[in-house]
Amino acid sequence: MIVHLERADDPRVSDYWALSDAQLRQTADPANGRYIAESSKVVRRALAAGHTPRSFFLAPQWVEGLADVLDAYPDVPAYVGEPRLLEAIAGFQLHRGALAAMNRPEPLALDAVLAGARRVAILEDLADHTNLGAIFRSAAAIGVDAILVTERCADPLYRRAIRVSMGTVFQIPWARLGDWDDAVAQLKAEGFSLAALEVTEGARPVDDVARMDLPRLALILGTEGAGVSPQALEASDLQVVIPMRQGVDSLNVAAASAVAFWELRAR
Ligand SMILES: C[S@@+](CC[C@H](N)C(=O)[O-])C[C@H]1O[C@@H](n2cnc3c(N)ncnc32)[C@H](O)[C@@H]1O
Repeated sequence: MIVHLERADDPRVSDYWALSDAQLRQTADPANGRYIAESSKVVRRALAAGHTPRSFFLAPQWVEGLADVLDAYPDVPAYVGEPRLLEAIAGFQLHRGALAAMNRPEPLALDAVLAGARRVAILEDLADHTNLGAIFRSAAAIGVDAILVTERCADPLYRRAIRVSMGTVFQIPWARLGDWDDAVAQLKAEGFSLAALEVTEGARPVDDVARMDLPRLALILGTEGAGVSPQALEASDLQVVIPMRQGVDSLNVAAASAVAFWELRAR
């Protein structure tokens, strides 16, 4: 149902008010139960994953390309406005065409996410949405079965994280952890070896760990600044390092994840 927008303060588009990175809170899941899918491709992937749209938001030149989607949801408003008006509402230029405000899917329980998983990544307090999206993309591509994010980790359903992940955040089952000790106890009870990926003294080179052929492995990735926390190092059964050369201290966490996911894949 096409609705032509005339005013930036139209309350019907409040889902799209002030979406720029600077204006959005950076961590945890927003309380309003919605997320924003950005670009026609990501909107299509979100719909293919079974998520339900609240509304669409686009400039006139994108209507034709998304016509099949708009037709498939005749009761969902498609707010159409000139690019300058959309920018005034959202706070950034919509280079990628359409946005959609989507209802957040129900969070998954840890049990459900772990069922049948052999390789799991735990993202500890990551703050950067680009890293988060890149890690989801690598995880999907290389065959990590599930992702767990800690309480303070940034939101995988944040606009930029979704975009960088190429929509793989809709594919890989993921859950936000509650109490850390409970989660560790459950992972261990279910037969997971907990491995901290970190540059530490006693860490084993990643190819040695690959040869251990661990049946179930949960790999902890640390935050961009401080790395894996002392608490998580303590809980780990082993520490794993990607050996560095040329005096380089460490890799970017998303780059490290891709190397480790591949080396430690289930075979
Ligand atoms: C940029 S690093 C954190 C900073 C790092 N602890 C330091 O002191 O320079 C972010 C995360 O990437 C992963 N990482 C980066 N390089 C790594 C390497 N060479 N071996 C294992 N993990 C690495 C770890 O999970 C780490 O916590």
